[in-house]
Parts: sequence; structure tokens; C-alpha cells
Amino acid sequence: MGLPDSEMPRRQYLRGLVATGGAAALAACLEVPGSGTDVPQGDPGSRPARQHAWNDALPTDEDGNVRRPNHHALLALDLTTEPDRAASERVESAFRSLERAYAHDVAGLLFTVSYTPAYFETVGAESPVPDPEPLTSVEGEIALDGFHALVHLASDDPAVVLEAEQALLGGASEPNGVQMAADLAAVFERADPRRTGFVGSGLPVEQAEERGVDLPDELPDEAPFLMGFRSGLRESQAPEERVTIQQGPYAGGTTTHVESLSLNLRQWFEQNDQQLRIAEILSPHHAEDDVGETGEELGTSTGVFPDIADRTAADASTRGIVGHAQKTARAREDGTPLLLRRDINTLDGDRPGVHFLAHQREIADYVRARQAMAGEDLDGVGQRLNNGLLQYIFVRRRGNFVTPPRDLRALPGTDA
Ligand code: HEM
Repeated sequence: MGLPDSEMPRRQYLRGLVATGGAAALAACLEVPGSGTDVPQGDPGSRPARQHAWNDALPTDEDGNVRRPNHHALLALDLTTEPDRAASERVESAFRSLERAYAHDVAGLLFTVSYTPAYFETVGAESPVPDPEPLTSVEGEIALDGFHALVHLASDDPAVVLEAEQALLGGASEPNGVQMAADLAAVFERADPRRTGFVGSGLPVEQAEERGVDLPDELPDEAPFLMGFRSGLRESQAPEERVTIQQGPYAGGTTTHVESLSLNLRQWFEQNDQQLRIAEILSPHHAEDDVGETGEELGTSTGVFPDIADRTAADASTRGIVGHAQKTARAREDGTPLLLRRDINTLDGDRPGVHFLAHQREIADYVRARQAMAGEDLDGVGQRLNNGLLQYIFVRRRGNFVTPPRDLRALPGTDA
């Protein structure tokens, strides 16, 4: 892989390399001036005890909403060895090395390490999370994550995501100038699928252009998400405390659900006008003037809770249409959302999609929110038609994970 030709701006070329992955992509990335340089190193002693405690390290937008890192990889792993004390120490040492290499910051690296029920079965321990299963009647045959562990790597610098992935798998011994004391290669091997994604103003259009993926012209150039509207407003996100496990062996950790979706953007953009898109993503009570082109007028709240959420069933039967945000807000508990959503746009396989990654205290919270979103209780709308986003999104895969507190992240559930 060589450097980009002069037609393609270097910055854009660099960003697309996360999706390519591997040693060649990393080498090409590091050849690009400005990439992978001035990346702050870190101190494991200053990282929080909760792996999912990212908010303090994330910047906020002009309205005060927490913004996600720009570039992501979801690395699937399978055990290759019987876990013992030496394996556990090795795994912990690899993660500590990454923490020394990169600051706990979007300019450095944010990451979590999570485990599936299949992992717990393999090590002979009881799984704290249930097996994944289809959650709604329209899903049909979907793939279910049966690999053992998932590492979510995130940074504003694409070179950091690629380099950290290589370092964990034994392909880069000195990430950001820091010697890896160990890597995962003797304990884990890469499993399928390798998933990547991005979030940020302008990135969907830029990434699609770079990779030759054709997106509808109606998607605004500056949109942060592929469906055009911003998401993750402060008031509709669960606080980190609300998604933290309170009791039991994994107290201080969280659970993670990853739902991979493909998107029919042609239908979303070409069959609908902006007012209809707003009705379907928020509610039929929202007007273009209150929302703006990409949701920029919303500030920190969609305003659906409580009244517009309470009107969901009535809107279905009298107006024949309900919005995604109003429906899902019905799942709040005492006014607080149950999910901390850290979903990412993806063009994996050169097709538009979303890897919908959410943290919640227990998987049952995800199920509750997802069933509120499915709206199977509503009369007057179809299973998909006029039912929020359901006509445009298609579930392909699900996985359930426990994300232990940081001091238990290396091979939990073993005596090691
Ligand atoms: C392509 C897929 C999706 C898109 C584009 C999308 C977009 C949005 C948008 C624009 C909002 C309102 C703004 C905000 O985030 O603060 C929202 C809210 C929300 N979404 Fe989604 N979403 C998607 C999938 C999902 C899925 C799969 C779930 C799983 C249950 C979900 C759960 C929620 C929840 C819980 C809220 C907040 C509701 C409240 O205010 O309490 N979304 N989403």
C-alpha cells in the first residue's frame, strides 16, 4: 500500500485506513506527515477504575453534549490457551503497556475489554450476562457473537487505533515509542468479525467519498451520523453511574450490547422529505424549525420526555406515525435513560451501517429499551412502516458482553 495520489487529500486517506486494518495500513498511516506524532503517552495509575468511564476524557460540543472519539475498531478475540496465572498476567501486562503508550484521552486511546457468555463457558465459570438472541419479531436469522472477547479501541487519531490493535496482536512492539512488556498473541487470536467505525461532523460523507461508497446527495456534508441527525444528547444518555453494576463479582463494571445494523439510506433520504424524517427519528410533534438540518437546534435535549413519549400510543392510532426517540424514551426509569449509547457509523463491507454499542447495568435494560423501540405494542403503525426508523434499519448481528471493572479485565472468572 503506497501513499495517496495527489487527488486525494492526505488527511482523508489516513482516516479510511482504519477500515482496511493490518500492518500495511499502519505503515501507510505512519508515513503520512502529522499522523501518529505528538500523541500523548499515559500513566496506568491515573486511569479510572471503571473501564467504561470515558465521559471525563471526552470533549463536549458547543451545547455541552459529550462527543464520541472519531475513530473506532471492535476487535474480536478467541482464546487459544487454557487460562492460568501466567496467561492472566500476560494479558494484564499487555493492557498496561497500552495505557503507558497512550494517554486516557481522545488524542491518546480509550479502550474497553469485554467478555461473552461463550468465554465464560470455555473457562467453566457462570456467565454474568445471558446468551445473545434476536430481540424483536422482524429480525429473522441473525448472527450472534460467539467469540470470546471484544476490545473496543477509540481515538481521534486513526493511527492510534491501528497501532494499538497491531500492538495487542504482536505486530508492533513499540507503540508510540513505548515498549510493550507483553502482547496478547500467546493467549488470544483474532476472531471474526473485525468491525470499524467513525463518528463526527463531516466524517460520513468524507469516508464514503474516499472509499467510493455511493451515498444519497441529500445527506448533509457536515452530518455526524449516516442518517443525517446528531445523536447522544446529554439528556437522553444514561449517566455512567446508571450503567454501572452495583453488586456481585463484577460490581464497578458494566454490560455491553453490540447490535450491528445495515441501513437503507436511499429509502430514508429519497422517499422522505425532511419533515417526515424528523417525525420518524424524533416524533410527529417536532417541526423543522425546532430541529434544524442535522439536529443542531436541539441543544442538549430532544424534548420528548415525558409528554411526547406518553403520547406514543395515541400518535400511532390517531396520526398513524411514531418517532424513534419518543418510542424509546418510554423505557426510561424515573425519567433517566437506561442506555449509555456509544454507537458508531460504519462502512464495513462498503455498505452503510451502524454498530450500535450500548452500555447498561444489565442486559435486561437493553432488552427493555429495544422492545420499546420495536413498538410491537402499538396499533395504527406497521411492524416497520411509519414505526420510527424500522423501515430503514436491518439487524444483522448481536452480542452480549460483561465489561468488568479495570482490575478484573484480564481473564475474569478463572482462578488465575
Ligand atoms: C441507525 C440506528 C439509530 C439511529 C440513527 C438512532 C438515532 C437516535 C436519535 C437521533 C436519537 C435522539 C437524539 C439523542 O440521541 O439524544 C435517539 C435516541 C435514542 N435511541 Fe436511537 N438510534 C438508532 C438505533 C437505536 C437502537 C438500536 C437503540 C436500542 C435500544 C436505540 C436507543 C435509543 C435510546 C434509548 C434513545 C434515547 C431515548 C430517550 O430520550 O430516553 N437507538 N436515537
